[in-house]
Amino acid sequence: MLLKNDYPALNYDKGTGEEKNWLVTETRFDPEALGKVEAVFSLGNGYMGLRSATEERYSNEVRGNFIAGTFNKFLGDKEVTELPNAADMLEMTFTLNGETFQLTQGEILFYERTLNLKKAELSRDIHWRSPAGEEYKIVFSRFVSLDNLHVIAQKVTITPLTNDVTVKLNSGINGQMTNTGTQHFQEGVLRLYDQKIMKLEARTTESAIDFVHFSRHAFALENEEFTPKNTIFMDRRKIFTTFEPETVAKNQTMTIEKISGVYTSRDKDWNSVETALELFSKVGNYDTLFTAHQHAWQSKVWKQYPIQIEGANFDQLAIRFAVYHLTGMTPAHDNRMNIGAKGFSGEGYKGHAFWDTEIFVLPFFTTSNPTIARQLLEYRWLSLPGAVRKAVENNYEGAMFPWESAWLEDGEVTPVWGAADIITGEPTKIWSGFIEQHITADIAFAVWQYYQFTGDKDFMEKHGYELIFATAVFWQSRLEKKGDQYEITGVVGPDEYKEHVDNNAFTNYMAHWNLEKAIHYYELLQQENPALLASLSAKWDLTRNYTEWQEKSAKLYLPQPNAELVIPQDDTYLSKKIIDLAPYKASAQVGALFLDYNLDQVNDMQITKQADVMILLYLLENEFSPEVKQANWDYYEPKTLHDSSLSRATHSILASDLGDKELAYSMFEKASRIDLGQNMKSSDAGIHSASIGGIWQVVVNGFGGVRMLDGKLFLHPHLPEKWTALSFPIYWKGSRLLIHVTQTATEISNTSNQDVVLTLNGKEISILANTTFTTN
Ligand code: BGC
Repeated sequence: MLLKNDYPALNYDKGTGEEKNWLVTETRFDPEALGKVEAVFSLGNGYMGLRSATEERYSNEVRGNFIAGTFNKFLGDKEVTELPNAADMLEMTFTLNGETFQLTQGEILFYERTLNLKKAELSRDIHWRSPAGEEYKIVFSRFVSLDNLHVIAQKVTITPLTNDVTVKLNSGINGQMTNTGTQHFQEGVLRLYDQKIMKLEARTTESAIDFVHFSRHAFALENEEFTPKNTIFMDRRKIFTTFEPETVAKNQTMTIEKISGVYTSRDKDWNSVETALELFSKVGNYDTLFTAHQHAWQSKVWKQYPIQIEGANFDQLAIRFAVYHLTGMTPAHDNRMNIGAKGFSGEGYKGHAFWDTEIFVLPFFTTSNPTIARQLLEYRWLSLPGAVRKAVENNYEGAMFPWESAWLEDGEVTPVWGAADIITGEPTKIWSGFIEQHITADIAFAVWQYYQFTGDKDFMEKHGYELIFATAVFWQSRLEKKGDQYEITGVVGPDEYKEHVDNNAFTNYMAHWNLEKAIHYYELLQQENPALLASLSAKWDLTRNYTEWQEKSAKLYLPQPNAELVIPQDDTYLSKKIIDLAPYKASAQVGALFLDYNLDQVNDMQITKQADVMILLYLLENEFSPEVKQANWDYYEPKTLHDSSLSRATHSILASDLGDKELAYSMFEKASRIDLGQNMKSSDAGIHSASIGGIWQVVVNGFGGVRMLDGKLFLHPHLPEKWTALSFPIYWKGSRLLIHVTQTATEISNTSNQDVVLTLNGKEISILANTTFTTN
C-alpha cells in the first residue's frame, strides 16, 4: 500500500529521453489532498478549463469545468458575477465484478498520475486490488483539445489480472454542479440521440447564456469494437447511461472512450443547439483527436515559445509548466474575454481578471506572442463602458477600471465581504473594489509597454491612445488639491494589508506616469494625427483635460526617498509599529498572521503583504538609482510576508538587477514552487496566474535581463550559477529574436528581414537582418 505520508507526493524526474523535464507525476493517492492536483494538473485550451478531478468520485473532490466568458450572477445583490461551474462531463463509475472501483477501498499496488506538459495530456496508471481480492490494471488518459476547443476526450483501459471479470459502466453528463453551493443554471432539455449521443442543455439564470453539452462512448475488447446493452437514465440536470456488464477475460483489455463537447451561445460562431449537435457528430475518436491536439500544442505553443534552461532540471520543468498554464488559461480565441486570477483551474477569484493580467501575465504575451497580447488589451478597451460607469458612480471622470473585472459591461465585480475577522467575528470588508485604484494606471502602462515592444500603430490608433487618454482623464479628476500640491488619499495600494492610506507611492507614481504619457501622446497626435486627436477630444473632452493634466501632473506629490533612501510606502507607514515577523515568514500557511491579528491591527504595523514599493522600483526602474533600490529592498523585504503569490517574482527580478544572483535564485526557487512545489494545500482554489506569469518574467526579464526602457531594448543577462545556458525568443517591433545565453557568452539571432538595435550589457549593437550576433 502506498502510504499517505510517502513524501514527496510530486515527482519531477519521471520523464526520460524525449520526455525529460516534461512530466509532473503524483506518486501516491491522497484523498485529503485532491485539490492540489485537481488545480495544478488542470487541463485547458483558453476556451475552457477542466480541474483534474478523477472519473470516480470522492468526498473531498472539487470538480470544475469553466467556459471562458460565461459569467452569471446569482439572484440578489449579495453576490457578484462569477464564472459558473458548468456540467461535469468526466464522471464515470465502474463496477468491476460487482465491486465499485474506488481507491479508498481495497489496496493500491501501484499509482501514478502524470501531467505530460508537452502533450497536454493527463494520465493515471493504477494497479488496484479490490476488497474481494481481484487485481486490475487500469489506465486513464484525457485531454482538452487545443485543436477543437469544444472537446474533451477520455480513454480508459481495464485489464483484469487475476480472473475473468465483468465490467459495468455508468457514465454521463452531470449538471448538478454548483459554485460552492450556488447553482447557476436553469434546467434545460435532456436527450439521447441515436442511442448514442447524450445531450444536456442548460441556461445561466441571469446572463441567459445557453449551454449544450454532449457525450458519447465507444467500447472495444482487445481492440474489437462492441456496443454493450445500455439503459438511459435522466434526472434533474443529469443524463446518464448504464452500460450493462461485459465479461473481460483475465489479461484481456477493455477500452472505453468518452468524447464530450460543450458549446455556448457566447461562442462567436454560435448558431443553435442543432448546429452544435451537427458539429459534435463530426468529432473523431480519441486517437485522431489526440493527433490534432498534439499538432496544435507543437505548432502553437512549443515551437512558438522554445524556452530552454540547461543545468537545472526542475527550473526547465517549471518554465514549461508556466507556459503550459499560460496557454490553457488565456482565451486567445475571443477578445471579449480575459484571464482569471486562477485561470480556469478553480472557483477562486470567481474567474475575475485583476491587474495580474497587465502587470504579471501580459509581458509574456507582449514579448512572445503580440497577437494574443493585443487581444487581451482590446478586452480592456471593449470594457471601457463599465469603467466609465464606475467613474461616474464615484463622481469621477474618464475610465476608472474595475479592480475585478468579468464580462465587458459588468464594471466593478469585486465582492464586498471576505474572510472572517478573528477579533470581531464578522466577515472582513474587502475595500479593493472601492479604493484599490492603481489598476487604472497599470492598464495604461501595459498598453504603452505593448506599443513599445511591438510598434503596433494600428492598435494605438484604434484602442491604445484612447485607453491612455481615458485613464488620464480619470486621474486628473481623482487628484485632490492639498495646499500647493495634489495628492491621492484614502486608497489601497498593492499592499492590501494597508487600507485607507494617503499617497501610496506606487499609486501616485503610476498616476503621474499615466498623466505624463497622456500629455506626451496628446502632443504627438497634435503633430501626427490631428484628425484622430479631434475625434478622441470630442469624446473625452481632451482639450480641457490636457490643461488639467499639465497643471496637476507637475504638482502631484511623489513620495521621495528619505535620509536613509527609503521611499515611504505611504504617508504613515514608516511611523507604524514594527513586530517580529519571523514566525509568520517561516509558516507554510499563507495569511498565518491573521490567526493572531485582524486587518485593523495589521494596518497599524509595518507589515507588507506583497511587493509594493518594490513593484514600483521594477516598473519605473529608470526613475530610481541602484542605491535607492538597494535601500528599499533592505528596508521592505524583511517586512514583507509575500502573502500574495505575485510578490516573489518581483523580488527575484530586483535582486537580479541588484547583482545578488543567489538571492534572486532563492526567490525564484520559492516562486516556481508556489503551485508546482510539494505544498499539497497551496492551490486548492486554483493555480496562481500572476505567479505563473511572474515565473516567466523572472526567467526572461530577471535572469535573461530583457528590458524595455524609454522605448529601447536592453539585454543584460545574469544567469544563476547553476544554469549553464538559457534560450528564449522575444519579439521586438515585429522581429523575432532568438537569444541564447551561457555563463560566458550571449548569442542573438535576428530571424527577421530588418535590422534590430539593442543595448547588450551596456553597449549599443545593431544586429543585421537574418544574422546572428555573438559576444565572443
Ligand atoms: C493580491 C492582489 C492580486 C489578487 C489576485 C491578492 O491576494 O493581493 O495583488 O491581484 O490576489 O491574484
